[in-house]
Amino acid sequence: MKTERQPNERQWESNINDAEENGGTRWIATANHSFAPYAQEEFRRLFGQIKSVQLIPGETFLIELPASAEEVGARLKAEPPIFVRHIQPVDRFWKLEDGVEELKALRSFIAANEQRLSGKRAAVQIRRTEGTATSLAVAEAKAELEEALRAVSSEPVLRDADWVLSVFAATGMLYAGISRPEDNISDWSGGAIRFKREEGQISRAKFKLLEAERVFGLDLASCREGLDIGAAPGGWTSLLLERGLRVTAVDPAELHPSLIRHRNLTYLRKNASKVRFRPDQFDLLVCDMSWSPMQMVKLVSELLYSLRQGGIAIVTVKLMHKKPMQTIREVIVRFGEQRLQLQQAKQLFHNRDEITLYMIKY
Ligand SMILES: C[S@@+](CC[C@H](N)C(=O)[O-])C[C@H]1O[C@@H](n2cnc3c(N)ncnc32)[C@H](O)[C@@H]1O
Repeated sequence: MKTERQPNERQWESNINDAEENGGTRWIATANHSFAPYAQEEFRRLFGQIKSVQLIPGETFLIELPASAEEVGARLKAEPPIFVRHIQPVDRFWKLEDGVEELKALRSFIAANEQRLSGKRAAVQIRRTEGTATSLAVAEAKAELEEALRAVSSEPVLRDADWVLSVFAATGMLYAGISRPEDNISDWSGGAIRFKREEGQISRAKFKLLEAERVFGLDLASCREGLDIGAAPGGWTSLLLERGLRVTAVDPAELHPSLIRHRNLTYLRKNASKVRFRPDQFDLLVCDMSWSPMQMVKLVSELLYSLRQGGIAIVTVKLMHKKPMQTIREVIVRFGEQRLQLQQAKQLFHNRDEITLYMIKY
């Protein structure tokens, strides 16, 4: 990472002054573990010259962008990044002390923002890096800050907030900022979206499709006939069945016994290269094969005749080697040639070494 440095308080302060003088802004950005370099690359492509300091290795970094908060928000919305999972503004920062001073500073930060916060719903999101030397305890601090919000006639909430107060404690410093949840890329703290594990849940993979549904704003229940390629053990299939779809699940491996007798399920225990369907049979195609990306593209492409025009495709792309950006570009081009138009590419919180594509057939 060319511009990445370990934080140094004095250096950082002078950087911040520079950023302010140049009309720049600073942020804390988070990516999935070990994908921070690609998130930084995305910022570089969008904003040109950037300065960044690592806060959690491979994951979270402080960044100065040569643009106003409004410009940053607009550009990230116009070209949503794949690897930047979450950003939060740094409006103020302090040196970490004994826990008491920090809370005092945060309370006065809230008071100084009374005009914005008063009469509005506000969520407090606090994160700290492991081993950060402060006695600031997250749960207590959250309760205190919620009290401070009430004191400025703001209603503390967990979800559906008008404003998010983001606090991050790391490497001797405390950072705070206030933003609209939609400007943080994810409205979950650090973009770490959590779903409750259900009793009898077939696989953790189900969380990926649940997250895709939410992040891409999909209404899976409006689909009727779904094809699940690489379906076993059946997490995705089970979600589609719950959403009321008729599902054709294809996998040489075994589906979970709890699914087999579902009246809306057709299970083809075969390799996807060996199955045939009616043209336009499906209005949803999902594929989570965890396989070589180009092999996956070939297999999915061969079955695309069965996805009707306007149908949705949700596909995970395994990032197997060292050039994920290039792999992603190639996959998107190849699918584009098959009339699958990309709507969004995103590394979801529940994606490990992969990303998820949301496409529509035209
Ligand atoms: C990561 S798992 C899928 C998990 C699934 N989405 C879930 O929610 O439970 C990948 C699956 O792809 C299947 N697979 C790999 N190659 C395949 C092929 N050529 N045809 C069909 N299935 C394949 C594997 O057998 C494996 O069960």
